[in-house]
Amino acid sequence: MKQILPIHPGPIGVFDSGYGGLTILEEIRKSLPEYDYIYLGDNARTPYGTRSFEIVYEFTRQAVTKLFEMGCHLVILACNTASAKALRNIQMNDLPLMDPQRRVLGVIRPTVESIGNITQSRHIGILGTIGTIKSESYPLEIHKLYPDIVVNGEACPMWVPLVENNESENSGADYFIEKNINSIIQQDPLIDTIILGCTHYPLLLPKIEKYTPEGIRIIAQGEYVARSLKNYLHRHPEIETKCTKGRETLFCSTEAEEKFSESASIFLKEKIRVQRIILE
Ligand code: DGL
Repeated sequence: MKQILPIHPGPIGVFDSGYGGLTILEEIRKSLPEYDYIYLGDNARTPYGTRSFEIVYEFTRQAVTKLFEMGCHLVILACNTASAKALRNIQMNDLPLMDPQRRVLGVIRPTVESIGNITQSRHIGILGTIGTIKSESYPLEIHKLYPDIVVNGEACPMWVPLVENNESENSGADYFIEKNINSIIQQDPLIDTIILGCTHYPLLLPKIEKYTPEGIRIIAQGEYVARSLKNYLHRHPEIETKCTKGRETLFCSTEAEEKFSESASIFLKEKIRVQRIILE
């Protein structure tokens, strides 16, 4: 189906299944404060990590379409699960039909590019959702750039629900975080770097640090994604000129406004206004 989309410049879209993408948005806004943003969290249907390829693709395509309709010319999938399971299909099959001039970028590639200069032991661990780990996207992408790096992955299916349900401070969170960290280190004791391959996980950082042995570096994606976006906009003036600069952020969620603003305000440490939207 051919879409009729706004042609005027618009905000940069940042999409996640829930609150996790806020960790990416925060870093992007720090590095590129002059732009306008629309953050979209599909909180009513989170988590994506346990869902099938078809469903993650379908939900992500709906979100991207909505952000395009709202005026975005550039959308960042601030979600590893969506980047792993939907990005390629959207880029190859949907964009040419929707509007070949618009762009959708993910978070896996910028993270992977940075890793080669960080690990000394050349053994790294990836923590992510079941969907991201099973997709093998990280080892596949890492080996394209750095064939010598040994990559082990650990799915942490309880971590996203802990964040989405505001349980990250409670002692129940300790049990699951300790268990998954121990497990990745047991898989490969030579690991010197752990990638938080899910944008929700930086919201659990104090506890992740507590259970990670000293000497192992923990990588949150935000700063790498922000750096890569800055670089991208520099290299692509045809996209950059379609991004408005008013320093405004609109927050949208598929959940009730109050529910999103209450939790998001805690994570962002700022008061925000939220608009509920329906994805279909
Ligand atoms: N923030 C998403 C990611 O980076 C979480 C996925 C989920 O909803 O399970 O993978």
